[in-house]
Amino acid sequence: MKVDVLLGLQWGDEGKGKIVDVMTPNYDIIARFQGGPNAGHTLEFEGIKHVLHTIPSGIFHPEVVNLVGNGVVIDPVIFKDELDKLAPYNVEYKSRLLISKKAHLILPTHKLLDAASEMAKGKNKIGSTLKGIGPTYMDKTGRNGLRVGDILSKNFEQKYKALVEKHKNILSHYEAFSYELDELERSWFEGIETMKTLEFVDSEIYIDEAVKSGKKVLAEGAQGTMLDIDFGTYPFVTSSNTITAGTCTGLGVPPTKIGKVIGIFKAYCTRVGSGPFPTELFDQDGKDMGKEGHEFGATTGRPRRCGWIDLVQLKYSIMVNGVSELCMMKGDVLSIFDEIKACTKYIIEGQEVTHFPFDINDHDIQPVYESIPGWRKDLTKLEGMNEAPDAFKSYVDYLEKQLNVPIHVVSVGPDRKQTLDNTK
Ligand code: GDP
Ligand code: IMO
Ligand code: MG
Repeated sequence: MKVDVLLGLQWGDEGKGKIVDVMTPNYDIIARFQGGPNAGHTLEFEGIKHVLHTIPSGIFHPEVVNLVGNGVVIDPVIFKDELDKLAPYNVEYKSRLLISKKAHLILPTHKLLDAASEMAKGKNKIGSTLKGIGPTYMDKTGRNGLRVGDILSKNFEQKYKALVEKHKNILSHYEAFSYELDELERSWFEGIETMKTLEFVDSEIYIDEAVKSGKKVLAEGAQGTMLDIDFGTYPFVTSSNTITAGTCTGLGVPPTKIGKVIGIFKAYCTRVGSGPFPTELFDQDGKDMGKEGHEFGATTGRPRRCGWIDLVQLKYSIMVNGVSELCMMKGDVLSIFDEIKACTKYIIEGQEVTHFPFDINDHDIQPVYESIPGWRKDLTKLEGMNEAPDAFKSYVDYLEKQLNVPIHVVSVGPDRKQTLDNTK
């Protein structure tokens, strides 16, 4: 058996949580491989909406193991809160929610460092979710971090205090940044106690054995390819590798054991936080898209910036991930338009550009669009692609041809049931 991967091809929030939940019945293990509680993955079924930040999106299926891999960074406070939110739904997770011993811990002072760093950047801020992601990955690569396995060591508190002292020293260099740590620490240690009730594992060994015994594993990405630390719109990115290769380092899966790479994208495009976004719409169309798509961040509640689909960007994402099949999300949102647009190239300083350029921050990029007729019909009640309006099918066909990868899943609403199979 090989490990399949599902990941975002745009700037995050493509609908990964929904599709992982829909696909979970085909798998034995769902594993997160990177990111942390900057992620907000939404699942909807039986009239209830759930938002997960750290817990993999397979948790609502009682037979399936959910694993938080070594590439993930965990905030014990948010993690405990997520577990508490599962309580009313009687989700039994104790035996099937596993955490890698090598995953790094987000300390309260990591969050303070995130806030101080963003404050100091002023108008150049990243627009971080302020969950401490950047500082935690910096401590990981700087070889200072605290890992989940350390929780069980006798000198855990000592290690914690030593790292906090380092952080306090850095924070003292930020003028006008004040903070109160006691309460934050209290709830952090409460979260640590909750984490201790779960099983800490050597997840690379766990997955290796599972795969060898014929179990099926789906790796769940967070964020999106354009937020990847190497291939995203740097510096307006997150601090991890969000691409397929992140599965190898974030779970210990060898490249030769990667199976399907399922890429997920919205039928348009959104971005939350700062940074370049070539097809962003500043007009009424953009506002209407945001309203119809309820485009507000699942983690921060911030409005998401909206624009037309960008095929230059998507082709780049498909390339760096080796995507083998696609899921197209939120097609229903475009029902409000008479005409749909797709960006097929950019004009930069008078030159036509069809590849994603190195520096899109400092250049004026003009997107060039092709127009596709709209369908102006409600899609949310469709039960199969055979019932879909022809113009909608043409849009899906157009994208398949442009992207040269088959679109297997078409989503027409937030609920589990509003998911159409496009392989028939
Ligand atoms: P993720 O971070 O990739 O899991 O995506 P988010 O959960 O942050 O954002 C996706 C949003 O779109 C959520 O509110 C979902 O409930 C919603 N959603 C997912 N698929 C569809 C769809 O096909 N149509 C509509 N209208 N909403 C969708
Ligand atoms: P999911 O998994 C959308 C964005 C932030 C900011 C930048 C850096 O739900 O798709 P960070 O907190 O990592 O320092 O923020 O990345 N960002 C996301 N945008 N969806 C996400 O996750 C994101 N996680 C981070 O808005 O611009
Ligand atoms: Mg999200």
